[in-house]
Parts: sequence; structure tokens; C-alpha cells
Amino acid sequence: MQYGHFDDERREYVITNPRTPWPWINYLGNEDFFSLISNTGGGYSFYKDAKFRRITRYRYNNVPMDSGGKYFYINDGESVWSPGWKPCKTELDSYECRHGMNYTTIKGVKNGIEAEALYFVPLKTWAEVQKLTLRNTTNEVKMLKIFSFVEWALWNAATDMENFQRNFSTGEVEIEDSVLYHKTEYKERRDHYAYYSVNAPIQGFDTDRESFFGLYNGFDEPQTVLEGAPRNSEAHGWSPIASHYVEVNLQPGESKDLVFVLGYVENSPEEKWESKNIINKTKAKATIARFDTAEKVDAALAELRTYWDNLLNVFSIKTNEEKLDRMVNIWNQYQCMITFCFSRSASFFESGIGRGMGFRDSNQDLVGFVHQIPERARERIIDIASTQFADGGCYHQYQPLTKKGNNEIGQGFNDDPMWLIFGTTAYIKESGDFSILDEPVPFDNQDGSEVSLFRHLTVSFDHVVNNLGPHGLPLSGRADWNDCLNLNCFSNDPNESFQTTENKSEGSQAQSLMIAGLFVVYGRDYVELCKTIGNVAEADRAQKHIDDMVEAIKLNGWDGEWFLRAYDYFGNKVGSNENEEGKIFIESNGWCTMAGIGLEEGMVAKALDAVKERLDCEHGIVLNNPAYTKYYIEYGEISSYPPGYKENAGIFCHNNPWIMIGETVQGRGDRAWDYFRKICPSYTENISDLHKVEPYVYAQMIAGKDAFRPGEAKNSWLTGTAAWNYYAITQYILGIRPTYSGLIIDPCISPEWKEFEVTRKFRGATYHIKVKNPNGAMKGVTSIKINGKIIEGNIIPLLAAGDTYAVEVVM
Ligand code: BGC
Ligand code: NOJ
Repeated sequence: MQYGHFDDERREYVITNPRTPWPWINYLGNEDFFSLISNTGGGYSFYKDAKFRRITRYRYNNVPMDSGGKYFYINDGESVWSPGWKPCKTELDSYECRHGMNYTTIKGVKNGIEAEALYFVPLKTWAEVQKLTLRNTTNEVKMLKIFSFVEWALWNAATDMENFQRNFSTGEVEIEDSVLYHKTEYKERRDHYAYYSVNAPIQGFDTDRESFFGLYNGFDEPQTVLEGAPRNSEAHGWSPIASHYVEVNLQPGESKDLVFVLGYVENSPEEKWESKNIINKTKAKATIARFDTAEKVDAALAELRTYWDNLLNVFSIKTNEEKLDRMVNIWNQYQCMITFCFSRSASFFESGIGRGMGFRDSNQDLVGFVHQIPERARERIIDIASTQFADGGCYHQYQPLTKKGNNEIGQGFNDDPMWLIFGTTAYIKESGDFSILDEPVPFDNQDGSEVSLFRHLTVSFDHVVNNLGPHGLPLSGRADWNDCLNLNCFSNDPNESFQTTENKSEGSQAQSLMIAGLFVVYGRDYVELCKTIGNVAEADRAQKHIDDMVEAIKLNGWDGEWFLRAYDYFGNKVGSNENEEGKIFIESNGWCTMAGIGLEEGMVAKALDAVKERLDCEHGIVLNNPAYTKYYIEYGEISSYPPGYKENAGIFCHNNPWIMIGETVQGRGDRAWDYFRKICPSYTENISDLHKVEPYVYAQMIAGKDAFRPGEAKNSWLTGTAAWNYYAITQYILGIRPTYSGLIIDPCISPEWKEFEVTRKFRGATYHIKVKNPNGAMKGVTSIKINGKIIEGNIIPLLAAGDTYAVEVVM
């Protein structure tokens, strides 16, 4: 069953039934000011950091789900309703929500009144702008009472939810004209406040929550709205809110716009005050003035659209698969931008409180994003590398506001360092900017500790080399990519987090085949980089370690039919046929096949066949099999999940592409494509009722074959799945891959595909690439012509920027 449809022309997903199986959300903003918005107007806003600068309040996991947001209430004399159906839930005559590229419109029709709310964060603006358009389609005059609503958070989203003995006494507001200001704690240590304005005179307002709702009423029936009478309340402590009351008269056929601005301001200490205890409103007023008419708002939205045109024009495809085209050209790239901005911090599955920017996550996200805005990827790489330690280890996460390593989460995830090589080489391949390697970058943000970024890559590489276990394989530390395979943890205490509890790595034999494969793949990238910059000695040194690793994998990492997953603390095998449960895992088989280890000896094909046989199912490839059915203290969190969920045999969509890419190494395009389609959201749109989450973005996890309800997805939006699927489809299946010296063309496709086209902007030039596959091959390019001339090999060399080239490829 579907709850809407794609509108590719406008790059929107159109939801036509508000009762989606889970809130289907969108993200507004792409730089500093951000909002999450659901299809019924739920959600919240923050500035840069969802934990430390929360602007509006949200109640997680509430009843009903998704309560609280940016609501408009309409009292038209006959009914009280909201354009987004919720929170009033008054039956609408029609409803439509359109989620687009960083904007959302929600339209409801009732009693002949159309109300459409547009929400977006204009470029380079610290505010969310909302345009409410009201249209009278009847033959009578309509007198509407409009109430806006947002609820302020007291800035720190964590303490906002717990420290009520203090919170209920701190709230402060100011009211001036049609602007409601929130200035809690501004008097003392804060240099920021928020505001909510409307571009019309108001006939009333409320800033105290209980006055607005009435203590016994919920979001669906505020007392003021029901009575059509605001209280003009001024909040002192308790829970400050902002609600405007505006009366709108509409002649038959007439329409009117109201523009609301929900903004954030920072003032320097000298500029904080206008007069005693009266905040300096200059910046707020300047922003409000930028959007004080509907025309200005429309112009800002048009700018945002153009911005997205330019981002999405860098890579676009035309195939015979409409569902594929819309993912690659629109939604997958969009999701990559969102994961790049938020890492794993704020979604409807991540509270924005628990997690900052992940070291490994952000490097991977970057790879799906780097072609869009390489400058921002560059800045991100420097930020990430600055949290690394001198021995190559790193903080697992850092806070976006301070950019400092997050001590609470700690360190010791031994795959982390290698991802910096992945992120940096991806950036250089895309941009050609080798100068980033000379950039001075500190360790642990300590002034004076700066070394070149290149040196950071060297210590990353050496962190693996210096931490090998008794089998010559990488020690896993706290965990590798799989945060839940905690081989050094042994936790018996339900009050401790698997992620941060003691890491008994001293004397441990826990070694990871996932890191081993990762090391070979990105170690080779490092070697290639060294060669490209003329550092032959380092390239040779590194190559020897890679050769040793390949040998160690073949010797100690092969189980006979597939690659082992790990050795545990005691040196016992994990992911072996010898194990009773968890005999085979996806990660090591993904990485070792991507690395092509034992390709000639048939190991790659064998491992991939075992994956197909044991891990594949209708909805995708599960992480391990058989699922763990009891708690293994020596494995940790993985065995704490019920079978079929999350890291315990869920379909972890993040690592399905590793197998797809592995299949392209083996040249089996049909299998790669089959795996791709299984988890690609546009292909599962028609099972939305089972799948539950948004059909326009990837989810982290789909319940696996051992689960109670296989096919049910969770954790949509913020997942490495976005970048990895984009990377797999564009660079390995369609096979258009940037490298230091040009664009590699190496598709590995389904034999049923007879042709496809790609437009790729690369280093300033535009390539129109037409691939023909007359004989139904899966892999192998037989000829490439550029502007009619045959070239040698399958790399399009760097050509003059500014020009457009026609590239004809025959497979
Ligand atoms: C989840 C992982 C996640 C980890 C760190 C675990 O509970 O299952 O997917 O990476 O927490 O937050
Ligand atoms: C989600 C985390 O964000 C990511 O870092 C990790 O690799 C996966 N879960 C697997 O555990």
C-alpha cells in the first residue's frame, strides 16, 4: 500500500494520506539553522547542535507519536482545524504534504477554506520561514481566527527534559509588536535568544503554555483556540511558548498570506542589550525585514531551488528504470547532504541529545556528498582529523558546536582511523585539491600540535599496523564498524552502555577481519596517493604491510567457504562454520571481497555465493546467520538484540552495498543490481504499510528473515546507507568513478540493460556519457570515444574545464 507518490518534475514526495504508518519527515536547512518537520507539522528546530542549541521543544516517543511541532490552528466559526490534519485531527476535505529539497508544504482544505503552509530555511539564514496562504473558495465572506504555535526549549535539550526544579523558574520572554522573543538565560551566560514573528498586526498572543492550552487540554484542543480568544499571557518561568493570534477576513475568492519567521540571534557581550533587561533586537529585525512580504519569501524559495538545481546537476542519470533515476538524481543525493549535515544526531530515531558527529560516520557520509560541495567536505575533513590523537587513534565522536572530541563516548574503535583515508582520498579524487594534504591539522584540538594532514593519514594507516594481534590481523579494540560486536567488553551490568564500558583490550586476541579488509582496500588508496604525490618510499613501505595483511587474511581469515568475521578475546573464531550461531557475517565478506582477496583462487566467488545462500532474503542481506538466540557475554551488544533486528541478523542496509561492490569485483552485475533493488526505497514504495518509514530515503535497518515481522524498516534518514548506496550504484554498478587522473568508466550492470546515460560534471568539465551494451554484457568496456575519437583504456583523462564532452562507451 502507498500513502502518496513521487513528483519527479518538482523533486517532491507527495503524501496524500496523513495517516502514514510512521511520521514521514523532511529536513529544513543545510548549514547552521535546522528543522525537522513531519508530514503533519511535527518536529523541532535547532542551531548547529541539536543538544546544546535546541530552539523548540520536542517530545520523543510520545503518545500519540509525533506530538509537538510548528502548528497552525484555524477557528473558522464552524470548525477548529489544522492544515496538516494534526494536531486537531479534524477530518479535512483534502490533505496534501509535499516534501521537497529542504522545504515542505502542507495543505489542508476545510469548509471551503484552503490553508497551505510552506516551511523552509532560506539559504544563509538563521531562521525558519513559514508562509501560510489562506484562500476562500466559497461565495461567502469568511472570518478566520488563526493561531500559530511553537514551544521553546530551554536551549540544552538534555537538561530541558529533566531539570524541572530549575527549569520551571527560569523561562523569560519579551513581547514587542508582532514579535515574541524567547530570552531564557540571556541575562547571564548566554549570548543568544530566539524569536517568532508574523508580518501582520496581531490581535492577541500567548507566551505561557498552560494559559494557551489550559492545563487539562492537549495539542489537539487548546482552550484559547476552541474559545477563539487568546489570553495575552506573558510567561514567567514554567514553559514559555509563542503563539500569535491573527484575525483574517476573506472575501469570496480572496486569498491572503501571513509570513512567520522563527529565528535565532547571537549577540556579542557589548551588544547584548538595548536598555536595562531589554534585549538588542537589531539582528532579529533585520532578518524579519528580509521576509516581510510573500514576494520576498517566494524569491528566497526560488533561490533555494536554484541552489538544489546546481547541486543535483553534478551527477545525473537516465536509464530505463524510473525508480532508479529518481533515487540517484534526487533522493539519494539529498539524503547524502542530510547525513553530511547531521551525522547521526537528530532524526525521529536519534534524539539529538545522545550523539555528536561520528568519526567513521562523517568520513563515510562525505563520500556521498563530496561532489556536491567539495569545499564543505574539505572543511569537514580538517574538523574530523583535528580530533585524532598522535598515535592515530581518535575520539569516536565530536560535538558540532565546539568541534571537540566527545569524552563521554571515548575512543578505541579500531576501524575509525582508516576512514580518514577513505574520506580524504575521496575528496582529492573529486576535487584534485592535493593542497589539503599540506594543511596543518592539530591532534586532539591542541594548539601547537599541528602536523600536515598527510601525516594524519600516515598515523591512521600505522594505527592498524601498530595494533596487530597474534594472527597478524588487526586488533578490534572497543569495536570495529559493528559497534555491537564488543569482543573486549564482558558486560553483566544492565546499567552500563556496551559502547562505553570497560574495554579489556590488554592481552586480548580479539581481531577483526572487517578491519583487515578495510585496511587492504584503503591502504591501497593510501599507496596510490603516495605514488601520485611522488612519495615512493612511503608507498613501498605501506605496500609491504598490505601484502602482509593479504597473506594473514588468506592464512588465518578464511573459513573454507567464506571469510571469518573475527577472533574473540580468547582467540576463538567468530563467524565460522564451527560456531553454532553467527556462522557467517556480512562485513568481513564484504570487505575481503571488495579487496579482491583470493580472487584468482576462487575465494571471492565462494564467499559471495555463501552470502547469497545464507544471508540473502526477500528484503535484503542480513548481517549474520544464524541469528544469536541467547546472550553471549563475549560478543556483547550484538547478542542483546532479538533475532532479526539491528546488528543481530537485521538487514543492515549500510553494508549491503559492500556485497554489491564485492559482486562487481567478481563481475556479476546481475547480482549487484538485484541486491540494490531489494533495499532501495523507491522500489519498496508499494509495501509502505509493512516497511513503515519514508519511501524516499534509506533506512538503517530492515527487519531480517529471523525477525517477527521481516521487511519492517527502522531508523530512516541518518545512516551511512545513504552514502554507501550512492557510492555503490554510481561508482561501481554504473561504474563512473573519479580518480586522481580522470574518470574511470567501468560499469557492472544487469545483462538486461542495453544502455544508459550519465551526465557528470568533473573538475570543471561536463561529460555526457552514453553507455551501450548491445551484447548484454555484465562487465567490461570494449571501446570509449570522446567527441568521436577513440581513447586507449577506460579512463577519461582530465580535459579542459568549462567544456562539454560527448563520451560513447561500448561494453
Ligand atoms: C546500535 C548501533 C549504534 C550504537 C552506537 C547501538 O545500540 O545498535 O547501531 O551504532 O548503538 O550508538
Ligand atoms: C550505526 C553507527 O552510526 C555506525 O557508526 C555503526 O558502524 C553502525 N551503527 C553499525 O554498528
